[in-house]
Formats: sequence, C-alpha cells, structure tokens
Amino acid sequence: MPQELMADIHAERILILDFGGQTTQLIARRVRECGVYCEIRPWSVADEEVARFAANGVILSGGPESVVDAGSPSIPAAVLDSDVPILGICYGMQAMVAQLGGRVHRANDFGEFGYASMRVIGEAPLFDGLRDRLPASDGVSGGSGGGPGDGAREDTGDIRELDVWMSHGDRVEALPPGYHAVGTSENAPFAAMVDEAGRRFGIQFHPEVTHTRQGAVMLERFVRDVCGCSGLWTAGNIVEDAIARVRADVGDDEVLLALSGGVDSSVVAALLHRAIGERLTCVFVDNGLLRLNEGDQVMRTFADNMGVRVIRVDAERRFLEALRGVDDPEAKRKVIGGLFIDVFEEEAAKLENARWLAQGTIYPDVIESAGKGDGGGAHLIKSHHNVGGLPEHMKLALVEPLRELFKDEVRRVGVDLGLPPAMVYRHPFPGPGLGVRILGEVRKDYADTLRRADAIFIEALRAHDLYDQVSQAFAVFLPVKSVGVTGDGRRYDHVVSLRAVETIDFMTARAAHLPHAFLDEVATRICNSIPGVSRVVYDISSKPPATIEWE
Ligand code: XMP
Repeated sequence: MPQELMADIHAERILILDFGGQTTQLIARRVRECGVYCEIRPWSVADEEVARFAANGVILSGGPESVVDAGSPSIPAAVLDSDVPILGICYGMQAMVAQLGGRVHRANDFGEFGYASMRVIGEAPLFDGLRDRLPASDGVSGGSGGGPGDGAREDTGDIRELDVWMSHGDRVEALPPGYHAVGTSENAPFAAMVDEAGRRFGIQFHPEVTHTRQGAVMLERFVRDVCGCSGLWTAGNIVEDAIARVRADVGDDEVLLALSGGVDSSVVAALLHRAIGERLTCVFVDNGLLRLNEGDQVMRTFADNMGVRVIRVDAERRFLEALRGVDDPEAKRKVIGGLFIDVFEEEAAKLENARWLAQGTIYPDVIESAGKGDGGGAHLIKSHHNVGGLPEHMKLALVEPLRELFKDEVRRVGVDLGLPPAMVYRHPFPGPGLGVRILGEVRKDYADTLRRADAIFIEALRAHDLYDQVSQAFAVFLPVKSVGVTGDGRRYDHVVSLRAVETIDFMTARAAHLPHAFLDEVATRICNSIPGVSRVVYDISSKPPATIEWE
C-alpha cells in the first residue's frame, strides 16, 4: 500500500515489545486510547525491524521470566543503543536494569502481588503532581481508601503516595549508572526510576491495569509528553485512513462481504460502503438460527437506511433439513459452517466481477497468530475465517480493513460511521447461532420458542439498564418437559434457561448476579406469554468448569 497514504495517521507510533506478560495487549489498548498508534512485537524482534518501525517511543512489557536466569529475554540492542524514549514495565524495568549495569536480585521473600502504595521520592515527568493519598503517617487520610479526590486536600509537602498494582518476584537492588529512584514501596526500594535526561523510565508496577489508579495518566504522559506524540489516532482519522487505503488497494474492483450482522462484519460493511459505495456487495445468509427479527434488522440498517447492496439469502429450510437428526454439538457446528460456505459460494459465483473478499479480522487475531514473546520474530498471519473457511478456489484477494484495530476501536469506528450504538455494542453471538443454544437436535418450533424467550430476556435487560453491565446474555432451550399449571390447567412443556455472564476475555467467566426480582419478572413473562415453556431456570455456573454456551 502506498507509503504516502499511511504517513499521517501512523506517523507517530509506539513500539511495544512483548516479554510474555499477561497484560501486553492492555498496554497497547491504553496507548491507543491516548490517541497514538502502536504495535506489539516479540522481544526477539530483529534489529532491522526495530529500525524500520522508527518508533517515537518503546514500551517494554512485563513477563513471567527472571532476568537473573541465563538466556532470559532481553531488550534488543537496536532499542538500547538508540536515543528513543523507553518505558520499562515490571520485567521490562528489570531487563533495563540488568542490561544497563544495575543489579536485580532473585527474591523469593520480597515478591509483591496486588495493591501496593508507592511513595514518590523525586521529580519525574510521569508522576509530577499526581497523588492518590497523603501518607498515612501524616494522620490526614491513611488507609487504602483514599481516592484521587484526596489530592485536593491541603498539601503537606512533597510526600505523595500512589496506589499501584504490583506483580513481581525479583527486585531491583541497584540502579544502572545515570538513573535515580523516583518511587519506592515497601517491598521494592526502587519501584520507579528515571534517567538523567528524563526520557527513559522503569516502573516496577503495571500502569495499564485500572488498579493503578493514575496509570492511564502516566502512560499518556509517556507517549504524549516524553515521546512527543500529538494524538493522531482518533476514530475519525482511522476511518479516513482506512477508506483511503481500501480505495488504493481495491481500485475499481468489486468486493464481496459475508455480512453476519455481528459487530466486525457490520463495521466492515459500513466502512467499505463509505469507501467504494455500489462496488460492495454483501451476502447475508439467514440460516434460521438468528435472533428474533435479526434478519429484518440487518436489512433495515444496511439496505434500507444506508443503501448498501445486500443480498439476503433465505436458507432456513436448507439449514434445518441438514441439521435434522444431528444432536452432537461439534457435528452441528460442522454442518452449519459447511453449509454456510456452500450457500455463500453459490451467491458469490453469481457475482462474476467480484475480485476481493472482505473480512473482519481484527488486531487480536493478528497478534494471537504471531505467537507471544516466543522468539518467533516474524508476524505470521492466521487465515481468520469469518465466513467459516475461505473458499480457496474462488481466488479472491483479501481486504481486511480492521486488522490494525482492537475491538473497542472497531466499535468506536462503527459509531463514527453512523451505525446504531445498540448494534455496535451488542453482546457477542456465536457463528452457529441458536444451533448451539438448542440442546440436541435443532427443530424449527424449538428455534421459534427460543427466539421469543431470548427476546423477552434481552429486552428486559435493556429496560432495566442491565444489558451493558453483563458481557453476554442469552436464553437456552432445553428439550426436556416439565409440569406446570396455568389457571386450572396442567401444562407439560419445555424448559428455558437464562444465562448471563461477566467476563473480560471470555476465557473465564462468572454468572452475573442479576437481581432476583428481575429474574422473577423475566421468568413470569416467558412462562405466561410463550405456550411451549412451562419453566425457567437461571444458570449459575462459572467458566470453568462450565462454558459460556451450553454446547
Ligand atoms: P464458550 O462457550 O466456549 O464461549 O465459553 C466463549 C465465547 O465464544 C463464543 N462461541 C462461539 N463463537 N463460534 C463462534 O463464532 C462458535 O462455535 C462458538 N462457540 C462459542 C461464545 O458465544 C462466547 O462468547
């Protein structure tokens, strides 16, 4: 892609070197929130790649290893030998200390995990003027309950405490020449250091996690004040840049997109429509396993309101026929995924001029496929199959306009492009749809019942302002019958389970503690208004040992 098109928005850039920490992606997201573009590379990245990247600043992540061990991950010479500003976080700080002539001690007894109070003991651009609490010994505040608001109290001098989140075993015993301490904590005498020029910092704590109250401010000061980045990375600029790049790549060709109605493909559709208008054709496959009125909503949003060319394929019967008699969850997934490709290909074959296939690959997909801090410098690209598997023989080139963006950025871009916020901030919905929420064999009457129950639950969550407080919520159809009573009549109908979870990464989750009165209301509405349901239960399982979906 032409360099001149990239120059603007990517001109200011931070390089994040990954030492295998759990929160490296979070560092990147925080930097982006400061309005600055950044990329993650493994610590073993080649020196030439560092030079080519031409970062305005480098952030070294935390990591699980010990710098004391032979062969432990180290900072590339191309970083240390340049004059680029550096922020070393946790392991990143220890690696700076070890490589620049200081001393790190393996400390089984000094580890700090969780909250710590760091006393600011010197001038440092990252901390100047920041304070969470006055020291407890002053008798002014004390305890860990003090908040940022305490900063308004009468100042008692230079002594300031910051609430920080620590997670380290080893500790720094001596700073490298030219560095001095600017922060100290009970178990880390050198909790923060800075060099004489005020351009290189080491901090033992994690500014990227929200437990470090002023962490976002510190990161912003590093990338903006120290590295001199002005903040070009905004939703509006990202959109303009992506549009220019798509136009440059695609030229006058036609592009095909499998529109699922999910966030990523919706944002790609809106973006491509803005970029190439009529030369975008979306294929929306209604497999009969969507939520209530979902197909109509997708058509209304894209075709009616935005004028996007969307081919709606009503394939409900085909999917349900293919699923008849299939009750194993993985077998159902295979049937649904395979049939999706068939249907999509049939439609694609009718569009003879399409030369590009658009996909909603996002940055975490790219990072995860590249491996984490494992020394494998190259950025391998996973073939990410939003359409369930790229039809090889179609010979379409890929256009992936979201591949630099985190999910939260995709959402902001979606809103900037005019998509309804309720669509952009929707909970995730699995590719196989209701197919994995109807236990066992999928039947149309089950799907219709489940759609209605799910809609009642979701509407109620929205009405009670609970929707955005949970990460994912849905109903599950249980094909078992239970006795109920309505008026004078006995019922013998199916069971619906409600599921709502709270999670950050969907790898672990806990059942949301929804108010009892709310669950009561939803259960009553479902049993009273849906003839096939006699009983509603609430799933209180965590993941692990359960999973979020029932199948
Ligand atoms: P589990 O059930 O594994 O779900 O705890 C974790 C997250 O992944 C979603 N999920 C899927 N998404 N195809 C998808 O596109 C699938 O087959 C699938 N299975 C689960 C699930 O909704 C949750 O957000």
